[in-house]
Amino acid sequence: MTAAPSTAATSAAAPAGTAAAGGTAPAVSATAGTFTAGKPAVPAPRSPTGPGIGFAAVSKTFDAGRRGALRALDQVSFEVGGGEFVSLLGPSGCGKSTALRMVAGLEAPTGGEVRVLGRPPAEVVSEHRLGIAFQDHALLPWLDVRGNIALPFRAVGRRVDRDLVDELIELVGLTASAGLRPRELSGGMRQRVSIARSLVLRPDVLLLDEPFGALDAVTRRRLNLELQRIWAQRRITTLMVTHAVDEAVLLSDRVVVMSARPARVVDVVTVPFDRPRGLELLTDPAFHELEDRLTRALLTTAPGAAATEAAEADGPAATRAGATDADLEESS
Ligand SMILES: Nc1ncnc2c1ncn2[C@@H]1O[C@H](COP(=O)(O)OP(=O)(O)OP(=O)(O)O)[C@@H](O)[C@H]1O
Ligand SMILES: [Mg+2]
Repeated sequence: MTAAPSTAATSAAAPAGTAAAGGTAPAVSATAGTFTAGKPAVPAPRSPTGPGIGFAAVSKTFDAGRRGALRALDQVSFEVGGGEFVSLLGPSGCGKSTALRMVAGLEAPTGGEVRVLGRPPAEVVSEHRLGIAFQDHALLPWLDVRGNIALPFRAVGRRVDRDLVDELIELVGLTASAGLRPRELSGGMRQRVSIARSLVLRPDVLLLDEPFGALDAVTRRRLNLELQRIWAQRRITTLMVTHAVDEAVLLSDRVVVMSARPARVVDVVTVPFDRPRGLELLTDPAFHELEDRLTRALLTTAPGAAATEAAEADGPAATRAGATDADLEESS
């Protein structure tokens, strides 16, 4: 994406008081809102409350210039309840980032409706209640790690909470690198800055686009567990795009599987495991069963498979829908 590290592309959240006023997130006490290390005090499972994110028959067609129109999403419907953690899985290029961008108000649907906290996305964005870590993390090259993480405070004209910035730097393991600029960081370190930045205004809604993609396996797992802890503390309504099936199962209440482009919802799987979930879950046969089911769903939605199956089931029109670049329709 091309967005500069503006408010929308970085992070934005209302002051703690307005989160409660929206009725979608618990009020944040002075201690509960911090990101200090340790287990969450109250890890009990909860049922979602209030509206979170809603996709109702959402379609998106891009104007691809001389190549015609490009259908990215087709009648996508799913809900993320208030306080729920939902992951989006789907083949590369199917439209996952586009879906997230619509939640962030950076793209408008060409059909259907996206709602956030029961309202149009732009309203929630303008109240700085959305935290976003996108695939390209858009760090400002002239600011160091600390400056980049603190940026959202400046973007919304609020005093920088230095203690919170330091906590987040520690959380993502960058204390020793806090004074380095993006060009001095590895890809994974830049990604960790982006994750910290998405949390700095204590958002009510968190959008994560492959947040751990560039990390080594150990760091990735550590940050998976940290993210779970933060989510358990704040119950931030979270929609995460990932290609890692195990990560989706470990972190999510539900997993939405999308088809190859144009993306359609092919399965929504509830993850039944109690929280907090630890590393031992990764060796549980039930975990692997779920992982296998999702992997199979993904395999059948891969571009070639989708085209073939659709052709068998529905004839030529469906074949076009499942193809990769074949659904570029002439605009004239
Ligand atoms: N602004 C745009 N203009 C034209 N086409 C676009 C635009 N943004 C995305 N697309 C196209 O829409 C499709 C979906 O893109 P998107 O980035 O949402 O995929 P994705 O599922 O996030 O893929 P990946 O897993 O590789 O990140 C792609 O074919 C992409 O080329
Ligand atoms: Mg993407």
